[in-house]
Amino acid sequence: MTLSNKNQNDIISSDIINSYDIEYVFNDKPISRIITKPTVENKSKLLENLKEKIINIENCEFKNNATQMVFGDGNTDSPIMIVGEGPGQKEDELGKPFVGDAGQLLNKMFNAINLKREKIYITNVVNYRPPNNRKPEPAEINRYSEFLREHISIINPKILILMGSTAMEALFGSKIKISKERGNWKDLIINNKTYLTMITFHPAYLLRQADQKKYSWADLKEIRKKIDELNLKL
Ligand code: URA
Repeated sequence: MTLSNKNQNDIISSDIINSYDIEYVFNDKPISRIITKPTVENKSKLLENLKEKIINIENCEFKNNATQMVFGDGNTDSPIMIVGEGPGQKEDELGKPFVGDAGQLLNKMFNAINLKREKIYITNVVNYRPPNNRKPEPAEINRYSEFLREHISIINPKILILMGSTAMEALFGSKIKISKERGNWKDLIINNKTYLTMITFHPAYLLRQADQKKYSWADLKEIRKKIDELNLKL
């Protein structure tokens, strides 16, 4: 980056700054005057590195039985990130998360609060289809949660939505119950950064338990309210 005269900072010489190969942003707050700016190229490089790590996972029953990795879908710069459980049959075939029946419902749920799927970023806890769509075991959830944390740090969303107990367990542990935790805003801390997080029911659960949709609707309205409050650009 080259500084224009107008942007020159009275503390640090622009010559010194321009000699570093780092993107800087200047702001007028009394502290943290200079912050590094995440660039789009950075993000895609980091996502590619993460994909590579997941591809190289060893001794994983999911990977050994799946057709392909299902990494993520949507806008990587979105302020909204959704985490599901893991790919099902259709996702395994197409290589994209939430494209089967649960995905259809997910699209409808977010349309109902005026959020188009393409505007958000979607991933899962596990990136390969579990055989017979079984629920991942705690040790498997734990193993993939390291990748998930990195995924969240790279996407850096303003709002994180965890759909279902597997996503909840991956990030908040297994001692809590989704029926108690859903619907409240929580802070999730990853690498000293706090992510505003909502736990809500998984669409596949709602397909089986239609009477629970009223709770899901309450959570969605809460999410819409927060998007408006934070004035998020979508
Ligand atoms: N269920 C999930 O949790 N994720 C998908 O991608 C599809 C169904």
